[in-house]
Amino acid sequence: MTKQKVYDIAVIPGDGIGVEITDVALEVMNKVAAKYKMQLNFTKVLAGGCAFDKYGEPLPAETVVQCKKSAAVLLGAVGGPKWDTLPGDKRPEKALLGIRAALGLYANLRPAKIYDVLKGASPLKDAIIESGVDVLIVRELTGGIYFGERGRRAENGVVTAFDSEAYSEKEIARITHTAFAAAMKRRKKVTLVDKANVLESSRLWREVVAKIAPEYPEVALNYMYVDNASMQLVRNPAQFDVILTSNLFGDILSDEASMITGSIGMLASASMREDSFGMYEPIHGSAPDIAGKDLANPLAQILSAAMLFEYSLGMSEPARNIENAVEKVLEKGYRTGDIWTEGFTKVGTKKMGELVLAEL
Ligand code: IPM
Ligand code: MG
Repeated sequence: MTKQKVYDIAVIPGDGIGVEITDVALEVMNKVAAKYKMQLNFTKVLAGGCAFDKYGEPLPAETVVQCKKSAAVLLGAVGGPKWDTLPGDKRPEKALLGIRAALGLYANLRPAKIYDVLKGASPLKDAIIESGVDVLIVRELTGGIYFGERGRRAENGVVTAFDSEAYSEKEIARITHTAFAAAMKRRKKVTLVDKANVLESSRLWREVVAKIAPEYPEVALNYMYVDNASMQLVRNPAQFDVILTSNLFGDILSDEASMITGSIGMLASASMREDSFGMYEPIHGSAPDIAGKDLANPLAQILSAAMLFEYSLGMSEPARNIENAVEKVLEKGYRTGDIWTEGFTKVGTKKMGELVLAEL
């Protein structure tokens, strides 16, 4: 008999709908684990608003310690209006930035894919999405303006605030390798999105990326300014395979890309470093308005779990198993409120979870 593999997984349900959708995802993970003869030990830890309420800080030290001890982290969502008036360093968002930095998760992978059965949910005209949308945004996650020098100064009574965008060759190089390696497993195209017509940091991105590209001769590389890219995403999204970009541009473009698919409640993401360790979370937020009402779409969280199996546990079969189960449930016509249209069967969070479990 082969020995059963055991993995420790840290789980951060967070705030709002994070709590209910992670519960559903854990059930899915347990079922898949049993099927593929592994054991997953989940440890729930606090981060975000709930951590502030309990400890007075959004990212308690023991949360980081537990994450570091684990093979991977599954995160729900953090934040809510209750904590919106807190000072910057106490806000739930600070937990997210803090954990990315503390765990060294510099590579954020955000796939935006249109499901055939959900094409009707896209706000774009049929003619535009006809050729499909399957973009992977590779966003640098621990550098740039998010973590650069910032501050305020007053001169003659006039206050000036500044945030600086700084990138080292090393930071650019490692995320570039992530993007090209991802492209090799996809349609072999990388678009570097920057603002090299204005920003010096963008010009360094171009130099570093151009130097690395020849190491991946099969991958086609092109460059696009971010203003043009945001327009091209709604004009002709099919032209993109992998978008490689900085922290801030990636933040903005990934929201745009998710909207194009029409189903932000479906999109998963992974935040990685060099080794297999990663943090997996839906790209949607904590949706406090529908929290606790059994209305949230758990599919992005379930698909985040699929990414966890693939990238951190190195097993693509369980990942495909989960993805196929999700597609089958959609094909059978089941929808949560966010992706529901006339003629389909509306279900709640728990029911959606049960339907996926039944297909595994
Ligand atoms: C995201 C979010 C975060 C970010 C916020 C909540 C800090 O928008 O993950 O895209 O800007 O990175
Ligand atoms: Mg964002």
